[in-house]
Formats: sequence, C-alpha cells, structure tokens
Amino acid sequence: MKFFIDSADLGEIKKALALGLCDGVTTNPSLVAKTGRKFDDVLKEIVALKPGPISAEVTAVDCDGMLKEAEHLTAFGPDIVVKIPLIIEGLKAVKLLTARGVKTNVTLCFSAVQALLAAKAGATYISPFVGRLDDVSEDGMQLIEQIVEIYTNYQFKTQVLVASVRHPVHVLRSARIGADVATIPYKVIEQLAQHPLTDKGLKQFLADWEKVPKA
Ligand code: G3P
Repeated sequence: MKFFIDSADLGEIKKALALGLCDGVTTNPSLVAKTGRKFDDVLKEIVALKPGPISAEVTAVDCDGMLKEAEHLTAFGPDIVVKIPLIIEGLKAVKLLTARGVKTNVTLCFSAVQALLAAKAGATYISPFVGRLDDVSEDGMQLIEQIVEIYTNYQFKTQVLVASVRHPVHVLRSARIGADVATIPYKVIEQLAQHPLTDKGLKQFLADWEKVPKA
C-alpha cells in the first residue's frame, strides 16, 4: 500500500519524506491556500524534493480550460499528476489527457458509479473522499469497498487513492480492503505509529534497565 502525504506545506512534506514512508504528495486548492504562497512557487519546491507522484489540481471547470492548465502543470516535470474534479467536463479532459500520456487523479469522488466513469475515462488515480462522507453520516469506507469490487470485476488499472483521511482507522480499513494508496495528513501519519501500550512498555523497559548492574 502506498502512502502519499496530503499537504502543500513544504515543512510537513519534508518531515514525511524524512520518515521514509512517503511515496508521493497530493495537494488541492484549499491546501495550497493554507500555505499563503503562490501555487507555482510551492509546486516548484515540491518537485525539487522528488517525492514521487505529485497531484496538482486544475481550477478550470471546462474541458478546454482544464487542458490548458494541465499543460502548465505538467511543464513542472514528469512527476506531476493532474488532479481533475469528477464532473462531466473533467471526465472529457481525463479521456483526452490519458490519450496524451498525462497522468490524472480524479478527485471529489463520492459514489461508486462516479468512480466507474473515472476508470472508463482512463484515470490513473481515483480519489474518493471518505472523511467528508463520514461527516454526513455515510460510511466512507463502504464506498472504497464498492470501488475496489467494481475495479476488480473489470480489471480496471485506475488506482484507488483513499482521500479525506481523518484518522488511523481509515488507513487500517483501506489496507484491509486493498486500496492502492492512502493520502494522509502528516498528523495522521504520526498517529499511525502511536500506541499507549508501546509508550507504557518502553517506559517500563527503561525503568527496569536502570536496575540492571552496569559493567
Ligand atoms: O486530498 C483531498 C483531501 O485533502 C480532502 O481532505 O479533510 O478536506 O476532506 P478533507
């Protein structure tokens, strides 16, 4: 299972890369806005870190506009994956970009039939937003189960990239279902390693070690 860091913050991305557990980066307009910096400057610095695939989102809502933005984004380097919202105009753009060999990440996916369309359009990745479904009392992980089932039925190559991850259980269930990727906020990456019994056990080991006669 690949872990991408879901952030446009260079400090967080560097910390995730230093852990050696990060296989890529996903950004979106809200994450970029949080940095308070120009998108091109942020993207240039992320590319320079060579983190693996880097999802950079278009903001046009028409196919031609998306294609134009995709051209600008892919000029930053071969690691760029163009993030496209799951709307009709976006599906048209994905089809055309796929034909040109451009990698795409279809985002803002909230249903299995949307994911089916993205796979048929040739998307490289599909990003179902599990946390936002949970927020409206649906079960986001059930969507991941449905998408993995459909993609397996038809051997679609589109990779399931679980997004809007809010806590370690999203990562656990994604791994058990067999999702290809989870894009994870840095805070959650840190939570994955934490367990109170590990801390308690280590504290006890070190305390007991103090009692061991030293040479
Ligand atoms: O990659 C998509 C992710 O950033 C959305 O997360 O928490 O805004 O639903 P969230």
